[in-house]
Amino acid sequence: MSAAREPTPPQAVLIGAELERFACELAGAPHYWSEYVREDCAERIYEAIWEDEYVNAWVVCWSTDNDTGFHDHDLSAGGIAVISGSVREERLALARAPLTRTFSAGQSFYLGVSAIHRVTHAGQGPATTIHAYSPPLTRQGVYRTAADGALERDALPFTEELRAASTDLLSGASSHPASAKRRGRSGATTLT
Ligand SMILES: [Fe+2]
Repeated sequence: MSAAREPTPPQAVLIGAELERFACELAGAPHYWSEYVREDCAERIYEAIWEDEYVNAWVVCWSTDNDTGFHDHDLSAGGIAVISGSVREERLALARAPLTRTFSAGQSFYLGVSAIHRVTHAGQGPATTIHAYSPPLTRQGVYRTAADGALERDALPFTEELRAASTDLLSGASSHPASAKRRGRSGATTLT
């Protein structure tokens, strides 16, 4: 992510490696996101940096204890590129521990449309990531366990922030919500 290059504007809905590559292209173009990077805030911060008919994307700043909780992206796939620091991703699994991976600066990963995942800050120091969605993210699904233990999904517009209200779905425990704050000029909000 050293040389700043202009991202190639999508000509269609992107999936797989193409979407992950687009997130990496945005990560390599600091003029899209550098003004929004904050490393001194306890809240997760995100700002829309790309919007067209095929893709929308955000820059997200993470610090200790930031946690999205388990969620999906409805009809959108996602590509995530790490600019600095580290984040941990977990894919929800039943009757076994979630698949957990940690990604650091220079790494990226892809989320298929069917993925259910959770992203948390990892390691020492703040982290900055790029999140690109195609087709453009309009709605998210968040998961929680009901009083009887049943798994339930709530649909949220992408204008609502994700919170870690149901991070421990398999045990039925819940953690304190982790908030996210939108900054900057955009009217659109979401996260990861
Ligand atoms: Fe996500």
